[in-house]
Amino acid sequence: MRIMNTQKEIAVVLLAAGKGQRMKSPLPKILHSIGGKPLIYHVLKRIQEALPNASVGLVLGHGKDEIEAYLKTDPELSQMTLNVILQAEQKGTGHATRCAIESTWGARVVEKKLPILVLPGDLPLISSKLLTALAAPLAAKKCLRLLACTLEDPTGYGRVVRGGVSVKKIVEEKDASPSQKKIKEVATSIYLFQAKYLKQALGKLSTNNSQGEYYLTDTVELASKTKTPIEVLHWTETTDLRGINDPWELALANELINQRKLRDLAKEGVRILSPTSTWVDTEVVIGAQSVLFPGSVISGKTEIGSGVIVGPHCQITACKISNEAHIKAGTVAEESVIGARCQVGPYAHFRPGSQVGEASKIGNFVELKKTSIGRQTSIAHLSYLGDAQVGNHVNIGCGFVTCNFDGRAIAGERKHKTIIEDEVFMGSDCQTVAPVRISQGAYVASGSTITEDVPPHALAIARSRQVNKLGYAEKLKGGSEKPAEHTKALPSRARTERD
Ligand code: UD1
Ligand code: CA
Repeated sequence: MRIMNTQKEIAVVLLAAGKGQRMKSPLPKILHSIGGKPLIYHVLKRIQEALPNASVGLVLGHGKDEIEAYLKTDPELSQMTLNVILQAEQKGTGHATRCAIESTWGARVVEKKLPILVLPGDLPLISSKLLTALAAPLAAKKCLRLLACTLEDPTGYGRVVRGGVSVKKIVEEKDASPSQKKIKEVATSIYLFQAKYLKQALGKLSTNNSQGEYYLTDTVELASKTKTPIEVLHWTETTDLRGINDPWELALANELINQRKLRDLAKEGVRILSPTSTWVDTEVVIGAQSVLFPGSVISGKTEIGSGVIVGPHCQITACKISNEAHIKAGTVAEESVIGARCQVGPYAHFRPGSQVGEASKIGNFVELKKTSIGRQTSIAHLSYLGDAQVGNHVNIGCGFVTCNFDGRAIAGERKHKTIIEDEVFMGSDCQTVAPVRISQGAYVASGSTITEDVPPHALAIARSRQVNKLGYAEKLKGGSEKPAEHTKALPSRARTERD
């Protein structure tokens, strides 16, 4: 069944002022992340999707400044109009809702008789489908719609107490009798209210309960007592309603949101070999025919093209990887750009600010930092390049190091640039001491330590000449001083000395 949202205007009160004490963390609860984004992000995104015209009142208290700072910096949320309402003291969900309704924003909402949807900020798995269903207009005379579901393990949730078929009240776990605790039908802290009823009911709440708090849930009992009819929306997709109250529930929700992401990717043609060991953040985009091998963790705002192979055991954060690149085992890449058809790893390390052009090879144990590399360049083994700019068709042998740091322990930027132009050939085991430029087409002999610029097409050799001391080894071993037959001068480019 497709549920149509015919609701034109609606107000949403989002409760997020609580201390979140059970998280045992100084970070406000709704700033904890699942799928790489804070809990509040997920709730606000679903509101944006399902109720784009909603006027949102966000109740903040504990950690208000931190939360507001986050909301301002998140590029997607900063465009959303949010009416922040202060709940200076956290006296319960009923009190938080009352703060919203009694604010200037709330007064306008009540005056306009908008339906009011109340949501807690700690249900990040809520779906847009659920929000759409909730926001459907209330039937005439109904004062509220209560969202309920049946849970195999209802521990921690408010129980729906019925008298016959009709709902009498919601009893919090802490106030429930042993027989009430057995009830598996639970309330979720999600309601759609008729504005006038909500305002009246909030004024009647008391703190006569085990927590000494104003419970929003008591609005249900008030309706039942005054014989005002309510509506119950029973939701069967219980994962949508997983609340986050402690680190374990956070971990479980993180697993669920990851499975949802992997399922969506698989539907779009991404091949995932092990859904239980692959982690992909909410914001990641991956093209069809890409393959994720087990143990890979892809996070942040990463964009992966199509036909890309990642893993096993790669960690990719905020990167852009173009079509058909192959990111082999154990590679770690952060804030970097990898061109189409590149071969990377195994065990390559891209530190922030690195970029590699098309069809280049960055092989095993190669570390790049703030380095740009052109097309069809090969750095195949065991090298470090920091603050370097490398051109196209360059071949860098094994064991190359850009010495980019001058070692001076004084303030300021002490990192220097290395420029290696197109078609340079760097022999194995070379170092370049920055700042330095190796110009186009130059060759650098193996084992060189380059301290001066190399002109185009030159061969630079910067190492001491080899000396072959004939017979010297025999002398060290205490043998004859006479050179053995095989040590007699052999034709060689090395200087030959007789000891
Ligand atoms: C609440 C419900 C419970 C329901 C459960 C589902 C009440 C009294 N209980 O319990 O019936 O089964 O949610 O998830 O409503 N908040 C404030 N100000 C406060 C207190 C809380 O803004 O003074 C906010 C919190 O930040 C949180 C939300 O309200 O986002 C819910 O509060 P929480 O303490 O998590 O309530 P639960 O114990 O989970
Ligand atoms: Ca909760």
